[in-house]
Amino acid sequence: MTVSFELNGGPISLDVDPEMPLLWALRDFAGLTGTKYACGKALCGSCTVHIDDQPVRSCVIPVSAAAGKNVTTIEGLSEDGNHPVQVAWRELNVAQCGYCQSGQIMSAAALLATNPSPSDDEINNAMSGNICRCGTYGRIRKAIKRAAESVQTWEPASAEETA
Ligand code: FES
Repeated sequence: MTVSFELNGGPISLDVDPEMPLLWALRDFAGLTGTKYACGKALCGSCTVHIDDQPVRSCVIPVSAAAGKNVTTIEGLSEDGNHPVQVAWRELNVAQCGYCQSGQIMSAAALLATNPSPSDDEINNAMSGNICRCGTYGRIRKAIKRAAESVQTWEPASAEETA
């Protein structure tokens, strides 16, 4: 069956089993491997992507749930890797082993899209489903606060700027 949706701003149609987890479709059929498999049970957040701007666990959502919707992965968060969350992550050297970090970044970006000035409690709540086995939580919280300083004025780079 063909499942069609918008992926990182462009249309895509995948010939897949509609019950296939979205994560497999993204990694194995769309070739986007930035989204990671970890627990496979929606418990750790490594596989977080956005569907219509909402963070979701792509390891348990069937690809058919994305039909007709907008899916954003870490590869599409910004054209040039300069979303404020990505910049803050680099500036504060958040990542350790890195495995969980695309999911962390996608959850943080979704939080700041709806709450550009979150409190510590709001950050903890929004990020509580994203586990980091390296324990980078302190740097994650700092980076979200750093990103909050610029997220409201950030404008995505145009295609010409990134060419
Ligand atoms: Fe290693 Fe989070 S940086 S699991």
